[in-house]
Amino acid sequence: MRVFFTGGSGKAGKWAVRYLQAQGHHVVNVDKTPSGLDCPELLADLCDAGQVIGAMSQFIESAELDLGTGIPTYDAVVHFAAIPRVMIGTDGECFRQNTLTTYNVIEAAVKLGVQKVVFASSETTYAVCFADGELKPDFVPIDETHPTVPHDSYAISKVCNEMTARSFQARTGADIYGLRINNVIEPDEYAEKFPAFIENPALRRRNIFAYIDARDLGHMVDCCLNTDGLGYEVFNVSNDDMSVDITSKQVIEQFYQGVEIRGEMGADETFYSNKKARKMVGFQPKHSWRDVLE
Ligand SMILES: NC(=O)c1ccc[n+]([C@@H]2O[C@H](COP(=O)([O-])OP(=O)(O)OC[C@H]3O[C@@H](n4cnc5c(N)ncnc54)[C@H](O)[C@@H]3O)[C@@H](O)[C@H]2O)c1
Repeated sequence: MRVFFTGGSGKAGKWAVRYLQAQGHHVVNVDKTPSGLDCPELLADLCDAGQVIGAMSQFIESAELDLGTGIPTYDAVVHFAAIPRVMIGTDGECFRQNTLTTYNVIEAAVKLGVQKVVFASSETTYAVCFADGELKPDFVPIDETHPTVPHDSYAISKVCNEMTARSFQARTGADIYGLRINNVIEPDEYAEKFPAFIENPALRRRNIFAYIDARDLGHMVDCCLNTDGLGYEVFNVSNDDMSVDITSKQVIEQFYQGVEIRGEMGADETFYSNKKARKMVGFQPKHSWRDVLE
């Protein structure tokens, strides 16, 4: 597929771009900063609707001119560009940029007839991550039916983006899938960060004790590109195991007292359910911190 990818210069985006390229997709990265990746690239500010529709409807590289067949169209848009959390700039600016870029990208995609849009939402929509103090989930494992009523501007922007996506899908019938991505971990972060998580599992409470390997996130995007006809859907994206080295029973005893526990859990099973992604798009994460540290 020819893929218009936003945010490919960022932490998660660069792994997803590489993964999609390895599967044979032709990926164009659109970001406000250069990526250093080996792919065609365009620098644009996605807060500017004119730049977004322009970027999505112009030649990107001279090889395209040589074909003499006009401006190539896109089969899919993957939108990762964002301010990736609160406390980078002001709260309002995070909300403004994240909602505006997402509106602009999805609007341009559907108006130009792109039939598949995949966008980055977040685990933070479930409110726990950036709560003031400790907020427990309503139930665990958290699945996509858990309420999304967050308190912080980043997560509010992501909930708003989900509604934007849902509305454009309803009007156009395009397939638009949102990824409620858990904490993204690059391969070299296992050795760097996980010893502290093993030492002190409380460090992972705000991430529901879960994580997503950056390469497995790329695989999830590919699964979404390869699965048509679902309309609007959101998917939790996480690895199968927890990011801590205590059992699920111990996590419940130490952190989830009073929380409804839905069903029997495996000893190291994630509290951030990826079952919907497994069932509906064939997501099969392959990596684990245990491959590196044990
Ligand atoms: N990293 C995580 O743990 C995590 C978890 C959940 C969700 N997400 C989401 O995944 C996506 C990627 O996250 P990341 O960690 O790679 O973030 P990142 O900050 O590393 O990358 C984001 C990229 O978006 C680009 N960008 C931001 N605003 C832009 C604009 N107006 N115009 C053009 N480009 C712009 C930045 O230049 C950057 O390259 C984001 O939507 C983020 O909210 C990330």
